[in-house]
Order: sequence, then C-alpha cells, then structure tokens
Amino acid sequence: MSTTDFLAPVFAQYAMEVVGAEGVFLHTRDGRRVLDLYGGHAVAALGYGHPGWTRAVSAQAAACNFQSNAVPMEVRVRAATKLARFAGGHFDSIFFVNSGAEANENALRMAFKMTRRTRVVAVEGGFHGRTAAAGAITWGADKKWYEFPRTPFDVSWVPRRDISAIAGTVGEDVAAVIVEPVQGVGGAFDMGAEFLAALRARCDAVGAQLIFDEVQIGVGRSGQPFAADLYGVRPDMITTAKALGNGFPCGALLMTPAVTAALKLEGLGTTFGGGPMACAAIEATIDGIESQDLMANVRRVSQYIRETCTVGPVVGHQGAGFLHGLICDRPAKEVQTALLARNILAGVSGDPRVVRLLPPYTLREAEVDLLRAALEDL
Ligand SMILES: Cc1ncc(COP(=O)(O)O)c(C=O)c1O
Repeated sequence: MSTTDFLAPVFAQYAMEVVGAEGVFLHTRDGRRVLDLYGGHAVAALGYGHPGWTRAVSAQAAACNFQSNAVPMEVRVRAATKLARFAGGHFDSIFFVNSGAEANENALRMAFKMTRRTRVVAVEGGFHGRTAAAGAITWGADKKWYEFPRTPFDVSWVPRRDISAIAGTVGEDVAAVIVEPVQGVGGAFDMGAEFLAALRARCDAVGAQLIFDEVQIGVGRSGQPFAADLYGVRPDMITTAKALGNGFPCGALLMTPAVTAALKLEGLGTTFGGGPMACAAIEATIDGIESQDLMANVRRVSQYIRETCTVGPVVGHQGAGFLHGLICDRPAKEVQTALLARNILAGVSGDPRVVRLLPPYTLREAEVDLLRAALEDL
C-alpha cells in the first residue's frame, strides 16, 4: 500500500508519513520526531494529545454523537455562548458551519440579503476557500483552479494596504468588503490598522457590510481572540474555522446585532454544522486557550521568533502572532525542504520568499531555539 492509494491526486505530499503526535511534535513512520511549526495548516491550536480536548470530544461521543440543529442540545448553546464571550460581546448570534469556505459563503449571503446589491470587494492576495462564492473572491483562483464558467456575483479588487484605492472601488453597488486582517495563503501579510479602519469607514459611508475572514488568523492565533481586537476595528461579521475545533471540522459565522436582525427562520441551514461533537471541541478549545493563557504565550513566543530568528536565510519577519512569515533571501520552498531534512515542518505561501509558520499556541522558546539552530545551519 502506498501513502496515496485511491486518494484524489490533488495534494502535493510532504516527505514524511505521520503515525502519531504529542505536544508540538509529530512522530513519523520512519521513526523521526518532527517539530511541527505548521500545525496542520493552522488547525492544531492546543497541540496534539491535549487532555482536556480529548476528554471533551470522547465524552460527547459517548453521551450523544449527533443531533441536528432542530433538536436543542445544551452543548451547542454552551459553545455559542463561549465563542460569543471570547469574541468580546460584539456579536450576538453565531451560525455554526463545517469549514472556512462555508462560513464565508454564508457571510456573503447575509450581505446580499441585507443590501440587495450585486458586487463584492476583496483584497488582492486574499484566499477565502474553494466553493463557487469563496473562490470568486480568492485572488488568482480563476487562473489556477476555479473552473466554474462564471462567478455568482461581480467582484472588484483593492491592492493590499492601498488606502487610496478604497474610495474608487467601494461604491454604492457594493454589498460587502471581505478581507483577511492578516493574509495567510498570501504570505502572512498583515493589513495593518489604518487600512482596516479605512475599509470600515468606507463601508459605513456606502452602507456595505465589512466581513473579516479570520479563518486562519482567528481564535487566538494573533495573540488576541480575533485580529479585529488586535487592530481595534469592528467588522459586521467575522468568519472563522481552522483552530476553532483544534482538528474537529467546524467553522462559524459571528454576526453583530444588525446582521442578526436580518435573519429569518430557515434563512440559513446545515446538517453537520453545530453538531454536538464539533461544539464539544469548540468549547474545549476555547477553554484550553483561556485556562492555559495561550494568547499570552503566542504574544511572547512570536516576539522571541522575531528577536532570535533573523539568521541563515531569514532576512525579515511579517505577519502577526503565530501566523508568522519568515522573509527569506532564497526560495521559501528550498528553505522548507532543508528544514524538513532537519526534522522541522514549516509551510510556504503564495509569496515565493516567505516561509509560513502556523505552530500550535503551546510552542515554547526552547523549541524556537531548535528552529534558530536549524536556520543557522542552512
Ligand atoms: C483565510 C482563509 N479563509 C478561508 C479558507 C477556507 O477554509 P476551508 O478550507 O476550511 O474551507 C482558508 C483555508 O485555508 C483560509 O486560509
């Protein structure tokens, strides 16, 4: 049996097979212990084998593994309440879904419903998922993999951080502006408070909805609950997924009161979103982040990476918290391959010179020292 038998041949494969994991380390079939600075693509917030998360998911599996949203379950209300409180009280309703793309799809649907307009403005370099709507607002998808004959709505683009381009692009036909406050796939590129505040102001002026796609940067990765908190800019909706369930598939659309007011019975729907196991995972993930003070750890250790890892091929840093970009003097792919040969897993991105780090929030300074030593060796 090969490692890809019967699997659709659409994913390039790393040169390792994982058979187990603990903390921030992966165990491979050939007996290596690999430092995971990629976290399953920004998913493994609490690290591997987290006792509280494992207990909560196992207990829910034993108690009742599934009921749909039409059947009240306390665990669903607990997860929604926990996430709304974690987000700081700006959002009064949460729609649970299964993925980041689905969260974005529903955010756009709400914006169209509220405004009855036909255009969305997105930011160059952004990634929002692979469904027809999320792919339509993903930079470069049309040239790479979109394949649908047309997009379901009109899309205009604003260059990253270009405040001067906002007024000319965000007009009165725009239903929503969607932006990753820190782009992930785009290369751990942070938009900065000024650009985000300018988008907020323009959306207010023309009556468009502002959507923050925090699928990758959200749920503590920035060192704050959401990047909206980091930059002090309030969107109308936040979409999130990835770290939210620490590996249990789930996503969420967080809505402010005006958006909630536009909802109607059966206006949104899903079978698996808000399932009890996903909700148990969400509750346990946020519990873990809060009880272990992991956002403080993210702030401290990300600063330590900036201070100590400008060595070897690394000439600079970008991003925020544990969505960290190492700017390299050579192709990121080359650095990634060399790190993996030294038992360190890192990611690449749409920027060919940026190595992307998305580690579990539990990463410590001693493990960053392993990265520094490996980089010095390149
Ligand atoms: C910012 C952002 N939005 C949306 C998505 C899509 O999420 P999913 O793959 O869960 O649909 C991703 C996935 O990488 C992402 O990084």
